[in-house]
Amino acid sequence: MTRPTLLKMNKHISYKRKQLFVEDVVVSDITGSLRTPFYVYSRTTIKDNFNRFTSSLEGLNRIICYSVKANSNLSVLETIAKLGGGADVVSLGEYQRALRAGIDPKKIVFSGVGKQDFEIAETLKSSLLQFNIESVSELEAINKIAINLNKVAPIAFRVNPDIDAGTHENISTGKADNKFGIPISKAKEIYQHASKLDKIKIVGVDVHIGSQITNLNAFRQTFQNLEKLIYDLRACDIHLENVDIGGGLGIKYTDDDVEPDLREYSKLVKQILGNLNCKIIFEPGRYIVGNSGILVTKVLYKKKSQNKNFLITDAGMNDFSRTALYGAAHRLIPLSQESREATEIYDVVGPVCESTDTFLRNHLVENAEEGDFLAFLDVGAYGAVLSSEYNTRPLVPEIMVYKERFEVVRSRPTYEEIFEKEVIPNWE
Ligand code: LLP
Repeated sequence: MTRPTLLKMNKHISYKRKQLFVEDVVVSDITGSLRTPFYVYSRTTIKDNFNRFTSSLEGLNRIICYSVKANSNLSVLETIAKLGGGADVVSLGEYQRALRAGIDPKKIVFSGVGKQDFEIAETLKSSLLQFNIESVSELEAINKIAINLNKVAPIAFRVNPDIDAGTHENISTGKADNKFGIPISKAKEIYQHASKLDKIKIVGVDVHIGSQITNLNAFRQTFQNLEKLIYDLRACDIHLENVDIGGGLGIKYTDDDVEPDLREYSKLVKQILGNLNCKIIFEPGRYIVGNSGILVTKVLYKKKSQNKNFLITDAGMNDFSRTALYGAAHRLIPLSQESREATEIYDVVGPVCESTDTFLRNHLVENAEEGDFLAFLDVGAYGAVLSSEYNTRPLVPEIMVYKERFEVVRSRPTYEEIFEKEVIPNWE
């Protein structure tokens, strides 16, 4: 059995007078005007996280390229843009989001193992900080497109250091068997080849070993490998301006998680990479937005089976899939702490027709009656972005709170809007 945890909550998502608030907005005001489930983000939390991250790196020549995939809502990106942040994007769609939100294209890195010709061409025409290249074939493709456009492509190679980040295997990216990057052992040779290509300008090196990393040793080893590579390249007259060390810093979701220490992480970066005369690029995602978001849901039904109690919520795995994908546990708390005591242990499940549509197993839920509202915590990263319309459940709305105001920053599509993209062919 797992108990509702007393773990410290983000100070901008907290109870006041027994009601859950996001900043100065009582969440029940939102449930009063919008059907659940929906996500709510605290803009101040995002700002605080970003500012804490950058100020811990004071003294370094650095740029924070927020990893757009973690939460790509335009209002989140606008918040990052206003703070002077850049972006790490993995598609033309993410690139265009970043521009639309006001992020300077010169602060955008384009990552990803499968960039397509049209994506490379469009970003090159417009401008970017660098392509993080993941294969020799991609290098050749970028060079060819650059020749056609008569542009010079700024590039870095993503190296795969064959290091175990000690995280869930589905979010580990730095082992030799993962599809990511070029083997670090081949890097020198590949850089030398790239240096001979006409329209390629080598500007950096890149690495990203995984996500939700809590043990800093994997980072230490990775940075040491990078340092060595940078010196090896210098010895053959290849000089890098940028060292992109990816994202991956974990956060604390439950009492069982170890919280990695940001100051220790920054210290490591400074110690190992701080004196190379390079700009350090960071690509944090989860650290910036993870604890900024909640998913508000309603208890639809309670039901008993032979040996279990189920609590059926109106949020499903299509709205929030981290549990189904990675077995992730997220805390669940009531919007109102009034009255009732926790009495029973539940499996908390959604309405989707899949057994993996289970958020918590054997969990003591506080104040759960049919019709009550609950909130999953720490869903600001990899929450809404991973949602789908499976079971023809419309994409879940997103709300941004800032101080005493809230705005719907992505609305729920109507059924008509969902259907209008589809066609019934007239074949008879
Ligand atoms: N840079 C690159 C190249 C990445 O692939 C990622 C995440 C990041 C930066 C940001 O990593 P972060 O700081 O957020 O850990 N859906 C999974 C996480 C997938 C991470 C994918 N790449 C989850 O919900 O845990």
